[in-house]
Amino acid sequence: MTESPGDRILVTGALGQIGTELVSSLRQRHGKDNILATDIRSPGPESNFPDGPFSNLSVLDGAKMERVILEEGIGTVFHLAAILSATGEKNPELCQRVNVGGTVSVLEAARDFDLKVFAPSSIAVFGPDSPNIAPQEGPLNPTTMYGKTKVTGEILGLNYWKQYGVDVRGLRFPGLISWKAPAGGGTTDYAVDIFRAAVDHGHYDCFVSEDTRLPMMYMEDAIRATESIMQADPGSLGDSRVGYNIKGISFTAGELADKIAERIPGFTCDFIPDFRQKVADSWPDDVDDEAARNEWGWEANYDLGRMVDEMISNIS
Ligand code: NAD
Ligand code: SER
Repeated sequence: MTESPGDRILVTGALGQIGTELVSSLRQRHGKDNILATDIRSPGPESNFPDGPFSNLSVLDGAKMERVILEEGIGTVFHLAAILSATGEKNPELCQRVNVGGTVSVLEAARDFDLKVFAPSSIAVFGPDSPNIAPQEGPLNPTTMYGKTKVTGEILGLNYWKQYGVDVRGLRFPGLISWKAPAGGGTTDYAVDIFRAAVDHGHYDCFVSEDTRLPMMYMEDAIRATESIMQADPGSLGDSRVGYNIKGISFTAGELADKIAERIPGFTCDFIPDFRQKVADSWPDDVDDEAARNEWGWEANYDLGRMVDEMISNIS
């Protein structure tokens, strides 16, 4: 391991749902020029992506990644590039290549240059044998390719920490709900798409059943959780450091539609499950986040009503 080339921050997959908001928050905290946003695609002319340094970088190009890290004086990587669950079920080979291959590129660079890494996991690490309220330590037997890549990511992260001392941290994000950037091909996208449809058309065809209950979280909480775990005292983090459960809001698709209808009179929702129902059915209803609470003080701020109010007012 050589000393980090500097203390700037690199974000992979920065143009996605999380990256759009994380880059903005990191630029406010650390200064615009200290955050290098990267992605395989470029911001479109209509994009509201925050202004500042941007480079094209595929996480599968490990040599270029190491070159950029050296040239740009990087000390920390927020590794967000991934293929999410619904796209991953349609193209499992791509999902495996990007999610596992990309994580290996980042971890290898981190080992070479003593970088600090945030690599998110997901509630998708759980499978049908998980209790409804998934414990921190429990069976991790996902049925989706995406879930399997996330379990592998956690195993790799813990291994790089234990074997090479790489400071890797991660969270098992629930389905994230936000309005600044579209959701990127996940099973929980209905809980984002429903708001735009409600505001624009007063109707939504939902691709999971009314009684589907999943763990979700408003993006502002997710960004705060990300920054909190990266700032946490390393001595307080145990073996869950690469994939803490974090609890946000648990609701059914029907409960979400009802809450929106209370605020948008006349809003209707039809429930027409497709292939994503099977994925949703394989995930737990909620998570137990005692480890995150005890070890670094996690607590969500948003409940269902507050999140729905924020989404409607911002989209409107
Ligand atoms: P997203 O799909 O919105 O964004 C992912 C980004 O990665 C995209 O901009 C895409 O262009 C980019 N990308 C794809 N292949 C790439 C490659 N080879 N090289 C570089 N970039 C590439 O995803 P997101 O919702 O922002 O998720 C970010 C991370 O958080 C992922 O690891 C995801 O698994 C995890 N996560 C997200 C959620 C959620 O609800 N959004 C929930 C749990 C976990
Ligand atoms: N929101 C993500 C998905 O549905 C969960 O990791 O794929």
